[in-house]
Amino acid sequence: MSSVVAFGLQWGDEGKGKVIDLLSRDADVVVRYQGGANAGHTIVVGDEKIVLHLVPSGMLHPRTTCIVGNGVVVDPAVLVAEVEELRRLGHMKDERQLKVSAFAHLIMPYHKRMDMLREAAASGKKIGTTGRGIGPAYEDKASRSGIRVIDLLDKKVFSEKVRENLKVKNFLIKRYYKGEPLKIRDVIKEYTSYRKLLKKYVADTPAVIQESIRKKKKILFEGAQGTYLDIDHGTYPYVTSSNTVAGNAAGGSGVGPSSVGYVLGVSKAYTTRVGEGPFPTELHGPECELIRQRGGEFGATTGRPRRCGWFDAVIAQRAVALNGVHGLAIMKLDVLDAFETIPVCVGYRAGKKVTSQPPLTLKGWASVEPVYEELPGWKRNTNGISRFEELPVNAQKYVRRLEELAGVPVDIISTGPERDHTIVLRNPFDLKG
Ligand code: GDP
Ligand code: IMO
Ligand code: MG
Repeated sequence: MSSVVAFGLQWGDEGKGKVIDLLSRDADVVVRYQGGANAGHTIVVGDEKIVLHLVPSGMLHPRTTCIVGNGVVVDPAVLVAEVEELRRLGHMKDERQLKVSAFAHLIMPYHKRMDMLREAAASGKKIGTTGRGIGPAYEDKASRSGIRVIDLLDKKVFSEKVRENLKVKNFLIKRYYKGEPLKIRDVIKEYTSYRKLLKKYVADTPAVIQESIRKKKKILFEGAQGTYLDIDHGTYPYVTSSNTVAGNAAGGSGVGPSSVGYVLGVSKAYTTRVGEGPFPTELHGPECELIRQRGGEFGATTGRPRRCGWFDAVIAQRAVALNGVHGLAIMKLDVLDAFETIPVCVGYRAGKKVTSQPPLTLKGWASVEPVYEELPGWKRNTNGISRFEELPVNAQKYVRRLEELAGVPVDIISTGPERDHTIVLRNPFDLKG
C-alpha cells in the first residue's frame, strides 16, 4: 500500500503515537489531519520518551517529512516549544522535515481562556476538555472569523483580525464569564515572536502531499483522538470539536478519498476514556486501578487519571464500519497479563432487549448494560513479545476473539511501549494496492 491512515477506534490514547512511529520507518510523509494540542502521542525509543502534541509522530525518522495539515488547529506556543525540545534531543536536524499548512487555523490566547472559563461555568455539565482552546478555535473556523497560519505572516492582516476578534471575545470574557480580558498589545507581541520562528515551516501542504503522491512516495495519515470523540459520530456533546474518523484524513490533508489506501484502526485490548461522558464498560474499584497502574493510564496531555474498562465489541464493530477499517492494531495486550478472566462486552442490554447498536441519545447510553463474555486470562508475562507463536495460548485466543468480534483482521499486536515490543502480522505498507 502506498498510503495508510492510522487513527483511534475508541476514546483516544489507544497507542496511535507508537503505531505511527513504527510505521513511519516505511513512510516518506506523515500528515496530522485534525485536532490540536489536545492530543498527546507518546513515542518510546530506548530510554527516550517523547510526547508529541502537534508535530506528527513520524518526526523521529530523519528522512520522513512531517506535515501539520489544514484540518489541524495550531497553537504556535506549543509548536515552537515542541520543535525546540525535539532539536535539543537531536531530532529534526533538517528543518525542512517539518511543514505547516498555511490554511491551518491558529489557536489564540482567547480560545484557551474561553475554553477554561466555559468549563468552569458549566460545573455539573462540563465536558472535561483538555483546556487547549480546541472547541473555541474550531467554532471560529466554522463561523469564518478564525485566523489562519498564513494570516500570521502578514502583520497588518494579523493585527486587524486580532483586533476584530478581541472586541467580541473580551466582551464575552468580561461580561458573561466575569473573566480577565486580554490586551491586544500582549497578543500581538507574543504572536510576533512566533511569526519569526514559524515562518520557515509554512507551506502549501496539499501541493506538497500531491507532489509526493505523484512521485509514488509512501504517505501515512495520523489521526488524533478517537472515533467516539468525533463531533458527528461520538458520544456528543462529550466529544472533541473535529471529525476524528478516518474519512477526514482526506479533507484535513487536502487529498481526495482515493488517495487513502489502507485504513488501520488502533484500539487498546481494553478501553479507556479521559474527561466526562458515556462509557458502558467502565470499571470502578480494584480492577480499574489494576489496569490504570499496569497501563500507566494517566493523560499524556493533562496528567488526569484515565477511566478504565473492558474491551467493548459494540463500539468496535460500529467504528470498523464508520471508518472502513481494513485491519486492527491491538495495543497494550501486556496490561491484561494480571487477570484470571477477562470480560469482553459483546452486546448492550437495553430493557429486555440485547442490541449490538450504540445508543442514539445520552439517555440511551446511560441506560444500557454491557453483556459480557468471559474469556480466560493467561497470567503470564507477555511484555515485549514480538512473535505471535510466543504468546500464551489464551492470549492468542483473546486476540483472535477480538478479531472475530470486530470482523476485520488483526495486523499488529503491541506488547509494550517500545518499537520492538510489537508483533507485526501484516505491515500495511507491504500489502499490495
Ligand atoms: P495515543 O494518544 O493514542 O498516541 O496514546 P498515548 O500516547 O496517549 O497513550 C498510550 C500509552 O501507552 C503511552 O504511554 C505509550 O507509551 C503506552 N503504550 C503503547 N503501546 C503499549 C503497549 O503495548 N503496552 C504498554 N504497556 N504500553 C503501551
Ligand atoms: P489523543 O490524540 C483522549 C477528550 C478530552 C475531553 C474531550 C474534549 O492523545 O488520543 P477537547 O480539549 O478536545 O475539547 O476535549 O476530548 N480528548 C482526548 N481524550 N485522547 C486525546 O487525544 C484527546 N483529545 C481530547 O479529554 O473529554
Ligand atoms: Mg494520547
